[in-house]
Amino acid sequence: MSLIDYAMPALRLLDPETAHRLTVKALSSGFGPRETSPIPPALSQTILGLTFPHPVCLAAGFDKSAECWGGLLRIGAGAVEVGTLTPRPQAGNAKPRVFRLVEDQAVINRYGFNNDGMEAGAERLAGRDRTRGVVGVNVGANKDAADPEADYATGVRRLAPFADYLTINISSPNTPGLRDLQAVGPLGRLITGARAARDEVVPDNPPPLLVKIAPDLADGQLETIVAACIDLKVDGLIISNTTIARPDTLRSPNRSEAGGLSGPPVFDASTALLAQAYRLAQGRLVLVGAGGVRDGATAYAKIRAGAHLVQVYTALVYKGPGLFRQIREELAQLLLADGLARIEDAVGMDSGG
Ligand code: FNR
Repeated sequence: MSLIDYAMPALRLLDPETAHRLTVKALSSGFGPRETSPIPPALSQTILGLTFPHPVCLAAGFDKSAECWGGLLRIGAGAVEVGTLTPRPQAGNAKPRVFRLVEDQAVINRYGFNNDGMEAGAERLAGRDRTRGVVGVNVGANKDAADPEADYATGVRRLAPFADYLTINISSPNTPGLRDLQAVGPLGRLITGARAARDEVVPDNPPPLLVKIAPDLADGQLETIVAACIDLKVDGLIISNTTIARPDTLRSPNRSEAGGLSGPPVFDASTALLAQAYRLAQGRLVLVGAGGVRDGATAYAKIRAGAHLVQVYTALVYKGPGLFRQIREELAQLLLADGLARIEDAVGMDSGG
């Protein structure tokens, strides 16, 4: 047991933003536990030119300013995605801006990209020992950007040298207009600009580029996004961000708060979208599944729907740092039960395509 394990019940008594802040501080000061149990070799994969010890990774938005990725790798994340980082530091929306929906094991947040900005991120990531684990960098636009599309190229130009992979986040519901960048015109310009910036600063072996999308797409929008991403040589898609939908099943009094909903209530929609993307992409994009992963079964369902990797956030809030170990052990058992030798063998089994 580590300090964080002991502190978890107390942390849940605090308001969620204070608990989050304290956890980031504790992890960045080395107070987290170190996960040392052996990882089943069947779970490791080399994809996107990177080696992942297992497929259960930490989603963006937890380590927004690249402060505690080392501690998160230490507690057993298969990779950590830092950010969303914007070109300039930003305070985000007024508090309170994050809410637990305990009865639904869910969260609603409207943080609004509070972060220390790309300069602070670059300083914290520079010189990191890349053998310690995969760190992706998620970039976004400032709320008051004159040209939001250009902010992505700016972030990529500054951060690509320190990123194992890059994520273009055009799916946060908390920056007005951001999700409109998923439309084909802006998306094409944005990807082209981000790729050019990346290739300019890291011409040899540039980090792969992923695009993170919302689960709330209009009819036909996934088709155009997948086609544009393939056309413009994007490497992968992260499916998905939080939802603005409010399923009827929600029971918590906080369900009417504005913002993005995450956790189990977003699992079905995000997994269906993932399976659809797998059928459309036909192996031409690497897919990362996020939304409601909380145990081996939900992680395995995402993988069988077409994901090579999964990401978690909300379940970490409720279950604490033992989550990564629990999921990877359960995943290894599920693979064995299906008679599969490697995690890749399960990718897309249930996509229906
Ligand atoms: C997020 N998420 C997020 N995503 C992103 O790309 N940039 C960000 O800054 C944030 N911020 C953020 C804050 C909080 C409090 C939450 C709960 C989530 C979305 C996150 O990365 C993920 O895509 C969704 O939360 C779905 O996964 P879970 O939480 O259901 O496992």
